[in-house]
Amino acid sequence: MKVERGQAAFITGAGGGIGRALAVALASRGVQITVLDMMTTKGEETVRLVEEAHAKISYRPNSPSAIFIDCDVPKTDDLAAAFARHQNVFGRLDICINNAGVGDGEPFYGAGVDSWRKVIEVNLIAFIDGTSKAIQEMKERGGLILNLGSAASFIPVPFGPIYSASKGGVAMFTRSLAHLGMGIRVNSLCPEYVETPLLEDVPVFLRDYFRDQMGFVKMERILEATFSLLDDESKKGECIWVPVNRPTQTWPDDETNSKYQAFKKNGSAFTGVFN
Ligand SMILES: NC(=O)c1ccc[n+]([C@@H]2O[C@H](COP(=O)([O-])OP(=O)(O)OC[C@H]3O[C@@H](n4cnc5c(N)ncnc54)[C@H](O)[C@@H]3O)[C@@H](O)[C@H]2O)c1
Repeated sequence: MKVERGQAAFITGAGGGIGRALAVALASRGVQITVLDMMTTKGEETVRLVEEAHAKISYRPNSPSAIFIDCDVPKTDDLAAAFARHQNVFGRLDICINNAGVGDGEPFYGAGVDSWRKVIEVNLIAFIDGTSKAIQEMKERGGLILNLGSAASFIPVPFGPIYSASKGGVAMFTRSLAHLGMGIRVNSLCPEYVETPLLEDVPVFLRDYFRDQMGFVKMERILEATFSLLDDESKKGECIWVPVNRPTQTWPDDETNSKYQAFKKNGSAFTGVFN
């Protein structure tokens, strides 16, 4: 499967930043969208932008162009209800993008500090939960799942160890699903810094450093890399790294990948419980 007009996508954290850009880009190709977020005003604005994108390509679906669902992703029952509502409205789930993410706030070793748990809950546990729920919905017809990783999936972040741990987890979880089958492809997009509201919580001196020393990845490169994964039916379990000033790279390199890609049983990939 690749992206086609008439499909329906479920995108977490689509009220802003990368999630919103992905929602609008998919809408420009005739995809209907569930916009899931905790920020109602921002989510409803994305719905409006999706409607506008459909109007621009003269796409008039029978069901709504987009719906907004207010949901805190680590709340598994609420997330299940959101998937159910998506199915009720659109009758199909072709694309699921686990995108809602948060940054690392304070030192995890501070006395009584457990805010790091929230980072793992949102950035890793909810991604696994979202993937699991999407697979349930897609297992008959196949589908595309995209998990937002980060350059922090591969490169340590001294000021954000929990964020890096969560994104490393997303990358390895995704890579381990390369042989999932059922016509479902799971991939991960791993950009360097992108100028979005996520960075508003980062100390100013760090944001200045990102801008001046590292640069930001432009949103059009994010979209290009996303569609290179969604539209290429050979991409399964791939993590695509999107640096600021160099071409995208697949991680790890092909040689390492082929060495560790899979344990074989009777000549094919052994995926344990999936067999
Ligand atoms: N901005 C970057 O530099 C960058 C780089 C690499 C990867 N990423 C990843 O991309 C994804 C999107 O980041 P962004 O930069 O667009 O961030 P953003 O803050 O601009 O947008 C994230 C959205 O997720 C929503 N959200 C946060 N917690 C939620 C929750 N518990 N339940 C539902 N919605 C929630 C927010 O309300 C927001 O609308 C994240 O997973 C992030 O880690 C970002």
